[in-house]
Amino acid sequence: MNEAIERILFSEEELKERVKQVGKEISCDYEGKVPLLVGILKGSIIFMADLMRAIDIECRITFLSASSYKNQAHSSGNVEITSILDENTQGRHIILIEDILDTGTTLSAVFAKIKETDPASVKICTLLDKKVQRSTDLKADYKCFDVENEFVVGYGLDYAQRFRNLPYIGVLKPEIYNK
Ligand code: IMP
Ligand code: MG
Repeated sequence: MNEAIERILFSEEELKERVKQVGKEISCDYEGKVPLLVGILKGSIIFMADLMRAIDIECRITFLSASSYKNQAHSSGNVEITSILDENTQGRHIILIEDILDTGTTLSAVFAKIKETDPASVKICTLLDKKVQRSTDLKADYKCFDVENEFVVGYGLDYAQRFRNLPYIGVLKPEIYNK
C-alpha cells in the first residue's frame, strides 16, 4: 500500500465488481437509446474507462473539464467550465460521469450548462457520493459507493494532482494535507 494512505476503502476487486453492476443498470435503463457519457475531467477517466466497458448497448463518450474555485468571499464555489464538448448534446440522452459528488457545486454548474443545450434527458452517475457535504439539491441517479466525510484518493481521484494512478480508493493520511 502507498505510504500516504491510511487505509483502503475500496479494493480493485470491489471497484471492478460494483462498476460492472452499475454498467448493467445503465444498459437496461437505456435499452434502445444511445446515451452520451460525458466525463468530467480529470477525476472521472478511470471510472469512465471501466464503466463504458461494462455497458453493453451502443453508447458514445465525450469529456469536459470544470474547475471549482473556492475562496472566502464565495464559500459556495465558483465553477469555470474550461472546455466544451465535441459532441452535439441537443436531443441526446446525457449521462454526466463524475468521480465524487461532494458539495454538488461543480455538477450543478455543469448540469445547468448542459440543460441549456436542450438535451432529451440528463442524468448523473458518480463513482462516490459524499452526501454529508451536499450544499445543493443535486442527487445522483447512479452511484457506486457512499463515502463519509474523509479525503479519499486513487482510481482517478487526486490530492494536488497526486495519487490518481492508485488502483484502489484509499483514505489519505491527514499529515499529507496538513503539511
Ligand atoms: P463539489 O463541487 O464540491 O461537488 O466538488 C467535487 C469535486 O471536488 C470532485 O470532482 C473532486 O475533484 C473534488 N473532491 C471532493 N472531495 C474529494 C475527495 O475526497 N478526494 C478527492 N477529490 C475530492
Ligand atoms: Mg473532479
